[in-house]
Amino acid sequence: MSPPSPAARWAELAATTVLLDGFHALKHALRFGAEVPLALATDRPTTLALAERLAPDLVERLAATLVEAAPETLRGLVGRPHPTGVAALAVPTAAGPPAAAEARRAPLVLLDQPRHLGNVGAVVRLVAGVGAAGVLTTGTVDPWHPTVLRASAGLHFATRVGRADPGELPAGPLFALDPEGEDLRGLRLPDHAVLAFGSERAGLSPEVRARADALVALPMRAGVSSYNLATSVAMTLYHWQAGQRPPGT
Ligand SMILES: C[S@@+](CC[C@H](N)C(=O)[O-])C[C@H]1O[C@@H](n2cnc3c(N)ncnc32)[C@H](O)[C@@H]1O
Repeated sequence: MSPPSPAARWAELAATTVLLDGFHALKHALRFGAEVPLALATDRPTTLALAERLAPDLVERLAATLVEAAPETLRGLVGRPHPTGVAALAVPTAAGPPAAAEARRAPLVLLDQPRHLGNVGAVVRLVAGVGAAGVLTTGTVDPWHPTVLRASAGLHFATRVGRADPGELPAGPLFALDPEGEDLRGLRLPDHAVLAFGSERAGLSPEVRARADALVALPMRAGVSSYNLATSVAMTLYHWQAGQRPPGT
């Protein structure tokens, strides 16, 4: 019996996997240990040449994994394929409960009812990049939505990403970011902090405000109402990181 076509295999796997849209998402997912049962490329030799340049550590695995698929097959499966002509399916990793506060060596980011998938993905990418403890979301947005994964460039697999119950927020000192708070520049953020950020439209929810140990503001020029959500997370995590000793000192 001949092996199933890429489209048939995709249909079999779709319900239990998440979409990795593009070469970079696939690269990061493989590098950080994702299980990738199917990876398609419209031009396998060009994709492997790209890997030689950008991910030499993964060339062998990609050569063993990538299956050539016609451009119209990929379009049929993902709608508007990524410019790199690569799409793959990966098994999502369960976030599990976050480590106990006393065991955490880096802050945990809590997004309180975020709305924009691109913002959530940008935050996952930041958290993975600085080595923070993970991203938890409250509200209705699925933090593993394909658009979120595309914006994180597949870095979901390099950190912990899941949902939080607003009635059971993770333990640890809760610093809630709000333009009305105390200036961040005067504070040292502890490594086991939970850093909470409000939604793009409404800001922090009453539940998170009530649980906060401190309300913290990022300095802004008079007349500006607020920063973008992902930008606020970046500034706050940089402040935490800048307070750390560089390794080996
Ligand atoms: C786009 S803002 C929300 C604006 C919203 N209209 C409000 O009333 O807060 C999204 C989130 O980013 C964070 N943020 C944005 N600018 C901030 C600032 N200057 N200081 C502290 N947090 C800020 C907050 O957590 C805020 O809830």
